[in-house]
Amino acid sequence: MQIIHTISEIRRLVAAYKQEGKTIGFVPTMGNLHQGHLELVKMALSKSDIVICSIFVNPLQFGEGEDFEQYPRTLDKDAQKLKLAGCHIVFAPAVDEMYPHSKGSGCDQSQIIIPDISDILEGAARPGHFTGVATVVAKLFNMVQPDKAVFGIKDYQQLQVIKCFVQDLCFPVEILSHSIVRESNGLAMSSRNAFLSAEQKQQAAAIYQALKHIESQIHKGIRDYAALQQQAEKQLNIQGFRTDYISIRDVDLNMPETESKKLVILAAVYLGNTRLIDNLQIST
Ligand code: PAF
Repeated sequence: MQIIHTISEIRRLVAAYKQEGKTIGFVPTMGNLHQGHLELVKMALSKSDIVICSIFVNPLQFGEGEDFEQYPRTLDKDAQKLKLAGCHIVFAPAVDEMYPHSKGSGCDQSQIIIPDISDILEGAARPGHFTGVATVVAKLFNMVQPDKAVFGIKDYQQLQVIKCFVQDLCFPVEILSHSIVRESNGLAMSSRNAFLSAEQKQQAAAIYQALKHIESQIHKGIRDYAALQQQAEKQLNIQGFRTDYISIRDVDLNMPETESKKLVILAAVYLGNTRLIDNLQIST
């Protein structure tokens, strides 16, 4: 497995593989890898010849006062895990390679803004976040030029945002999604779980239980979405969380109709200072 830090080198390698007729699968990450990421790599390996995983903690998607500085940087450990998983190339550019204005070239002004979907739910809580995500993912796609890219459904809204700009701007890349990988107690795997104590990890299982409870209510025919959301929020707050939102949406993240057949229940909650998100897709 090779570890590459520059755009010129990743381009050279990818061009050589493409020359040989190999397909490129891509898994963009911010590092601090867990089993969930390794499942994305596994999926990419099953769908393409060469798998590239990027590790880049993207300053553009962190807001003021968010955890950009604290975000764990664990390149050596990540590289070991990726090697064992069968990844071929790690692309780990420095900030000034991705945003060269800081070292005097380029203007770093262009951004990909996807209106509406970027402004709700996670976007409402984290203004500018999805512009930062879309911009860095577009840049990475231009650098790596993958045939396929794999994203986790855990970041449901991120996945919709990426699918949207890829389609709108005709990026020649197929977006694949991977189901949420959970701990045995149901907690969705996330790099941010590293901020939780052992006790909090047990406590955080309540988020998935709350989503499952709403699912069971909907399956019983209860369609008062506002009441279901409020009850779940209240329950989680009693259990020591600070709920940002529990929201029942249709699969495109619009407000659902009473008779909508496919729904997604999304949750964002704080446990201590850690913001955790999760979701559950349901078909009725
Ligand atoms: O999901 C993530 O880890 C990040 O948002 C991504 C897609 C790698 C962009 O920085």
